Order: sequence, then structure tokens, then C-alpha cells
Amino acid sequence: MTDATELDRAVSALHAGELVAFPTETVYGLGADARNAAAVQRVFAQKGRPPGHPLIVHLASASQLDAWAAPLPPAARLLAERFWPGPLTLIVPRAAGVLDAVTGGAETVGLRVPAHPLAHALLERFGDGIAAPSANRFGRVSPTTAAHVREEFGAAVPLVLDGGACSVGLESTIVSCLGELLLLRPGAVSVPQLEAVVGPVRRAARGEGPRASGTLTAHYAPRTPLRLLDGDRFEAALRAPDAAVLAQRPASAGFAGRAWIDGGRDPARFGHDLYANLRDLDQRGAAAIIVEAVPADARWEAVRDRLTRAAAACDAEDLA
Ligand code: TXA
Ligand code: MG
Repeated sequence: MTDATELDRAVSALHAGELVAFPTETVYGLGADARNAAAVQRVFAQKGRPPGHPLIVHLASASQLDAWAAPLPPAARLLAERFWPGPLTLIVPRAAGVLDAVTGGAETVGLRVPAHPLAHALLERFGDGIAAPSANRFGRVSPTTAAHVREEFGAAVPLVLDGGACSVGLESTIVSCLGELLLLRPGAVSVPQLEAVVGPVRRAARGEGPRASGTLTAHYAPRTPLRLLDGDRFEAALRAPDAAVLAQRPASAGFAGRAWIDGGRDPARFGHDLYANLRDLDQRGAAAIIVEAVPADARWEAVRDRLTRAAAACDAEDLA
């Protein structure tokens, strides 16, 4: 675990323009000083992320908002007051001086105050914004433990603060607050929860809204082809002996000995474990990962979104 000396080392590294991976309650982030363009460029290089995709700036507290957002939309302030610290990112007009390297040249910036105590301690000691995407290579499954981050980057990112497994396990909800409120990415803060605070929030259609890599159709994919199937198609796919399975129930007797993970019927639990389960199933040498479609209700929206994108990414690779 991380002690004060390691935190000090992480803060010095950030000031020196180096990268630090750190836990948040959603997923681990790959952080850089958001005021240092060269450091931010290093994040893109490490991830293999195409240039122009904006990064989220993480803050210790909402009191820093005015240094990053101007003018601050009233709805953004209400959402920040209600949900920060927490798994919600707000897209707002950027303040003067916010780097193009961070915003991808856009006039907006994504801001979030994370709830993880170690992220908070790091941000507070650092004293300014930390730009951080999820700490995975571009297009791959986000890391929810320090070990996952080391799997992704190895010695290239030596400083990984270990805060244990992330409590949420899926990336933050993203809401654009530029005029009409627009959901760009579903997450643990649900649309009904948002709407209770600010009124109607529209779900962005595919390809609508600003460019966001987490909102590309093909994203969040394991290396093994993933198929998301419901009903009879799921049952039929189970007959393939070399399939690894992620379902919402235990394997029946006929499937004993199979690579089968029961993610359970609780959406929060299922989401918490999802990326670790996909990484696990990815290492079983299976020909395909067969995932049982999840329920259609709002509580499963974030999980459904990530699974749909993972399946789409595999389809895209089949075509490539
Ligand atoms: O939970 C999370 O949000 C994690 C943790 C580390 O905070 N971070 C994360 O970052 O998922 P990333 O970069 O993997 O996904 C952030 C998404 C990207 O799709 C990015 O394009 C979008 O947020 N984004 C950032 N700034 C934006 C902006 N100004 N306008 C539109 N989208 C933006
Ligand atoms: Mg990501």
C-alpha cells in the first residue's frame, strides 16, 4: 500500500513532468500535470492514444472549478455540489489557459473530483489539476487494480500508487453541460439521479456530441473475440466447447469444468467485477468470450454500454 513517502515521490514526479498511475473509485488513471503540455503528450504516447482525444482533469475539490471552467454553467455547479467527490465528469467551457493538449483543441474541458482517498490525497498535495485517462492502452479494458496497470505498461510506468480494487469499477458518467444537458457516457451516477437534480438529460446518439474515445462504438475490448448474446443465441453459443462464458448465473451441471464466471444479478456488483472478469476470461485461451446479455433496465445501463462496445470492437477487428 501507499505511504506518505510514496505520495511525496508521486507529487515530485508530477512536478517533474513524469507520469503517475493512481487509483480512483471508478478505474485507475494515468496522470500528468495538466498544466504541462510535454507531460500531457507523454500520456498520449504511453497509451497509444490518437492525438486530439481530450483528457479529463481531476481536481481535489470543487472549489478549484473557477480556475478550469469559465463561464461555469449553473447546471454544472448543481451537479458538482450533489455528486462530487464521485464518479461524474462534467464537460464545461474551459477557462483561459487550459492547454489545448488537454482539451484536444476544443473550447471545453472535462472535470472530475474523484472520491478515492488516495486520489484525493495525491490531488491535494499536488495542488492543481491532474489530467488522466484510464490507465490502459488505447481501446483496451480499463484497469481496476494496480496489477492491471502494471500488466498494461510494465516498466514504462514505474510509479503506480496502489489503492486496492476500485469500488465502482466502471468509468465515470460523463455529462456535457453546454446548453442542453447531454449524457456522453453512462456510469455509476445514473440518468434518473442526474435528472432529480437538473431536470431532463438527453442520451447522446451514436456519433453525436464532442469526440470522446470512450464513446467510440468500438472500445473497451479484450483480445479474445467477445459476443454479447441473449436467449436462444446465448444457449446455442454455449455448445462450443472452447468458449469462455460470463453469465448472470452459475454454470449448470452440463458445463462443469468450463471457463465460466457468474457475474451475478446485481448491476453494481456485475459492473464492479466486469473488467477484472474480462481480463480473467481473456487469459483462458478460449476461441471466444460469450457474454449473456444483461437486462434492459436503467440500473444496467453502464454495464450494457461497455459490453455493447466491447462486442462492437471485436466485430470491427473481424472485419479488419
Ligand atoms: O472514470 C473515469 O472517468 C476515468 C478515471 C481515471 O477518472 N477516466 C477516464 O478517462 O475514463 P478516459 O480518457 O479513458 O475517458 C474519458 C472520456 C474520453 O472518452 C474523452 O474523450 C472524454 O472523456 N472527454 C474528456 N474531455 C472531454 C471534452 N472536453 N469533451 C468531450 N469529451 C471529453
Ligand atoms: Mg479510457
